Amino acid sequence: MRSHYCGQLNETLVDQTVTVCGWVHRRRDHGGVIFLDMRDRDGIAQFVVDPDTVDAFANADRARGEYVLRITGNVRLRPDGTQNPDMPTGMIEVLAKDVEVLNTAATPPFQLDDHGKVGEEVRLKHRYVDLRRPDMIQKLRLRSRISHNVRAFLEQEGFLDIETPVLTRATPEGARDYLVPSRTHPGEFFALPQSPQLFKQLLMVAGFDRYYQIAKCFRDEDLRADRQPEFTQIDIEASFIEEDDIMGVTETMIRQLFGEVLDVALPEFPRMTWHDAMQRFGSDKPDLRIPLELTDVDDLMKDVNFKVFSGPANADDGRVAALKVSGGASLSRKAIDEYTRFVGIYGAKGLAWIKVNERAKGIEGLQSPIVKFMDNIIEDLLDRVDAKDGDIIFFGADKANIVNEAIGALRVRLGADLELYTHDWAPLWVVDFPMFETDGSGRLSPLHHPFTAPACTPEELKADPANALSRAYDMVLNGTELGGGSIRIHDQAMQSTVLEILGIGAEEAQEKFGFLLDALQYGAPPHGGLAFGLDRLVMLMTGATTIREVIAFPKTQSAACLMTNAPSDVTAEQLKDLNIRLRQKAKVEETVE
Ligand code: AMO
Ligand code: AMP
Repeated sequence: MRSHYCGQLNETLVDQTVTVCGWVHRRRDHGGVIFLDMRDRDGIAQFVVDPDTVDAFANADRARGEYVLRITGNVRLRPDGTQNPDMPTGMIEVLAKDVEVLNTAATPPFQLDDHGKVGEEVRLKHRYVDLRRPDMIQKLRLRSRISHNVRAFLEQEGFLDIETPVLTRATPEGARDYLVPSRTHPGEFFALPQSPQLFKQLLMVAGFDRYYQIAKCFRDEDLRADRQPEFTQIDIEASFIEEDDIMGVTETMIRQLFGEVLDVALPEFPRMTWHDAMQRFGSDKPDLRIPLELTDVDDLMKDVNFKVFSGPANADDGRVAALKVSGGASLSRKAIDEYTRFVGIYGAKGLAWIKVNERAKGIEGLQSPIVKFMDNIIEDLLDRVDAKDGDIIFFGADKANIVNEAIGALRVRLGADLELYTHDWAPLWVVDFPMFETDGSGRLSPLHHPFTAPACTPEELKADPANALSRAYDMVLNGTELGGGSIRIHDQAMQSTVLEILGIGAEEAQEKFGFLLDALQYGAPPHGGLAFGLDRLVMLMTGATTIREVIAFPKTQSAACLMTNAPSDVTAEQLKDLNIRLRQKAKVEETVE
């Protein structure tokens, strides 16, 4: 039906006849001549309809915003003074000969240029209109280029694209499962995969050696700006490899992707241990664009006359950390109050601070609600953080995990507020994760998933599980966890040991993962892999602020689709088929963050 996309029209086509199909972006009536800005996925071009072309003019006259038209005409240079250098098609216009109305359109729920004026609810409800916005088209096009590029790279490297089931058993990745009732097995349920983890390991046992899949994953968990209940992984697994092999190939993949798609040369990916990341940045996904670091001051605070600090400084699970911000003494009282409220979100009970006005004056040159408690250690403290005139030092004191979360988040917030970024892109690998984490009651749970190999023997693991390290690695970019993976357990005895430490007895293990434990007995090769969050990768590469902007049809924060109204009621007949009886249901308030 068409010869060109609107966005392709330019000076090289002057005097040629072209036909485009698209939507009326804007229509202006200029005293007898009608101007139509026509839009399609490639861009916008200007069409001029003259009253001399009677039929064309009549159709252009009845066209309204978002009508679907097919227009044929001659490309010509715009008259001097009417060119628009800001538009790729701004040097030319098309004198229409023929205008055909392919379809009319009701008045859209919002003007595309005015999308900011309507709430996200309206945009999500009419997503097919929202997706017409050039900004959305550009993001989804980039997403398509990214997945194409990744596929081409992995194919080139000998990885095979193999699909794994969506109706399956639970795959433990730490979230709740989405369940699907079985009609043919009354009372029984499939689980949608939280990841293809177990299947990709079984493909290694089968000998496929190198696998990848761009796979949908499903997790029923609390949603945030970078989480969706249904999201996409670039899932990778390989056999006869060690950490350096898989980290090497995936780092090359990401580096090449950034080069080819964004023309960005990523710097080296440094490796940092999990322990260092927590100590220095309070986070296992540190944003290394920000030149601020946490400093431990526990030893200095043990004997100060301020319980809020001396308590955690003396407790095994406590931490007192300082965060120096160069030049931060100019922060207002109001700003400090706002940061105090902010760290409260992460459970911090306060935010102590010292402003260094004039260090040479000793304690007189400092301004702070807490220095009065610590005059005998103040010089050591200032030396420790290398404080200079004009700096501010913030403090967090509490259980280590609260201090890490709160001061880690404050570090990121200050980086953004004070525009401290030193690089555009700061990738790194975080390695040497602990095998397990403990909850309050001392119960161990896997920091990654229970198929991650420990960096020690089964005997050593059993003797001191809480301090064992794993062979896991995460790729972090600008403070976002882009991907994570590990060398897996390929030995049945080791797998059983880990499940046992996690409190999963032999019987339960057999019931849940018997197929994996069996497979490990039939010649499982050493193997490992990694999965990237494709949505997060696209989010970073497009500069989007939420994951919803890079997904064509995303869910809201309460995991619903406002356009289709999913999830929805089902008929009594369907429930009967599935052998399900409902209890009274609770209403959910709909929100997007
Ligand atoms: P993990 O659980 O770390 O590992 O997930 C891998 C990557 O997937 C992305 N991701 C998400 N993206 C959007 N919404 C979500 N709800 C969401 N959850 C995770 C993140 C994350 O880094 N099977 C292992 C991988 C492996 O060991 O090979 C796994 O799923 O970017
Ligand atoms: P207070 O003596 O409670 O007025 O606290 C003195 C200063 O210490 C205030 O600036 C508080 O914000 C701060 N503060 C209180 N609790 C903590 C904490 N757990 N960590 C860091 N600073 C705190």
